[in-house]
Amino acid sequence: RNITFTIPVVVHVIYKDKKDNISKEQIQSQIDVLNQDFSKKNTDAGQVPKSFSSLVADAGIQFKLDKVNRVSTKVDRWNGDDMKSSKKGGADAIDPKTKLNIWVCKIALDRGQEILGFAYFPGTVNSKIDGAVIQPQFFGTTGTVSAPFNKGRTGTHEIGHWLNLEHMWGPDATNNQKQCDLDDAVADTPNTGGPNFGCPTFPTKSCKTTDMTMNYMDYVDDKCMYMFSKGQSSRMRSTLVKGGARVSYVS
Ligand code: ARG
Ligand code: ZN
Ligand code: CA
Repeated sequence: RNITFTIPVVVHVIYKDKKDNISKEQIQSQIDVLNQDFSKKNTDAGQVPKSFSSLVADAGIQFKLDKVNRVSTKVDRWNGDDMKSSKKGGADAIDPKTKLNIWVCKIALDRGQEILGFAYFPGTVNSKIDGAVIQPQFFGTTGTVSAPFNKGRTGTHEIGHWLNLEHMWGPDATNNQKQCDLDDAVADTPNTGGPNFGCPTFPTKSCKTTDMTMNYMDYVDDKCMYMFSKGQSSRMRSTLVKGGARVSYVS
């Protein structure tokens, strides 16, 4: 069996409205989801169709809430990485080379659309802005969470990116067009033409094969995503071993 890696997490709660100063319980509910999803202990794992069930992975990664930093602000919605700067009214990263920093705050609309969250791939940005940003209404499973993104899977998806996972369709599929030429560089996930939304019926096909729509790295509703594949697990774990881009987070 794989050894378990544990990653300390700092959560910055940056709020203007009082309701966005989410409770400790809501924060812990997100950590609990991460610990289930990254160890195949999520109770919905049994919904994976038979043809994919041998690919479901226990990634052996755990998360420990290290610190909660609460900051009240005058900013309604944040652009870019401004929430990561105390000078701009946000919160500076805390120990960002050894702790996963998550900023929970309102994000500016993108062409009128809500952004659930975003994160950076390993080794791509200055540590001052490394980590994940998630809106309060999509963080955790209790308190102010809003369906259909109320099962903490935005956190699972964003930390998948932070541990080097691409979307199921890879780096192409701009404007949500179906493009099958590039993929996610993971051998056991079917090549996918572009994002799936809502709760797709099985089987859903794009690049001639059946899409793994229930993977955390697709865009489906929270209750319709419930697995990482074994290939994704080894890609994430390889960032946490000697020579890996995230090894400094493992104590
Ligand atoms: N759109 C975001 C991203 O690409 C997050 C998608 C998360 N999906 C979800 N069902 N929670 O990083
Ligand atoms: Zn994503
Ligand atoms: Ca693949």
